[in-house]
Amino acid sequence: MTMPDSDFPAIIDEGGDLAAFLSANRAEVRARLGETGAILFRGFDVPDAQAFDAAIEAYGAPGFTYEDSLSNAVRTNVTPRVFTANEAPPETEIYLHHEMAQTPLYPSALFFYCEIAAETGGATPLCRADRVFDQLQREGPAFAARAEAEGVRYTNVMPAEDDAGSGQGRSWRSTLSVDSAEGAEARLGELGYSWEWLEDGSLRVTTCTLPTVREVGEGRKSFFNQLIAAFRGWSDSRNDPNRAITFGDGQAITPEDMAIPIRIADELTYDLQWKARDVALVDNFLVMHGRRPFSGRRRVLASLIS
Ligand code: FE2
Repeated sequence: MTMPDSDFPAIIDEGGDLAAFLSANRAEVRARLGETGAILFRGFDVPDAQAFDAAIEAYGAPGFTYEDSLSNAVRTNVTPRVFTANEAPPETEIYLHHEMAQTPLYPSALFFYCEIAAETGGATPLCRADRVFDQLQREGPAFAARAEAEGVRYTNVMPAEDDAGSGQGRSWRSTLSVDSAEGAEARLGELGYSWEWLEDGSLRVTTCTLPTVREVGEGRKSFFNQLIAAFRGWSDSRNDPNRAITFGDGQAITPEDMAIPIRIADELTYDLQWKARDVALVDNFLVMHGRRPFSGRRRVLASLIS
């Protein structure tokens, strides 16, 4: 097999059956993923969601299910391990994030599959978070040190019923896998979260303190958190981004603090412009992803690796 030495993401485009390729080259693909953080498989035969599922199966890593996760996004399963990526409206930008880094339960990697590419827009921005943290330590050393030392707490408001019009629209019943307020409180208690019921039946929760930086091997550290997405994007009829993030001690993380990592991440972002049948594999600890606004129909499926 050939693996061209492109920097980021790595691109493998030799074609053929992707499941067969992945089962034959599993160790090399995993090693490459650990180095580069993202691999684009282009030009392989992946005609539909079932073929995508078979490729993930061939990769051979255990799955991480949406039902078990504390994700805030509304999604629909296509096969048991494949679901639609965030169903937020086309004009909504999903800002850079690590999948579920705003919770204590997150996948180690994600597969994406482009079934239908958008007419315009709809790229998946990818950004190396180890490079972001390196640069942040140089350009915003005080914030980098404080964020690393204190960690972060996230606050968001979950509706009583799924609201597919919002990127943060998953109901508290679905998010917490419960069917009653008592069940929700028990689950939040286990997680170490605090909460407040609002008049319309929605639920405001604040997480326990979560890390902002993660060791990713060989002395590298990544800016592994949800700060950018929460600060830029947690905005809907229930959520105010100015209340979404604080340091672990409860003090505000300010727009001035956030301006530096946002600028750095924007500079380092690569926009993956999808072609139909592309598959991408993303290391969730090393690389942030998002979704650009788009027009026309776009269908990108995802699957999580635990
Ligand atoms: Fe995501």
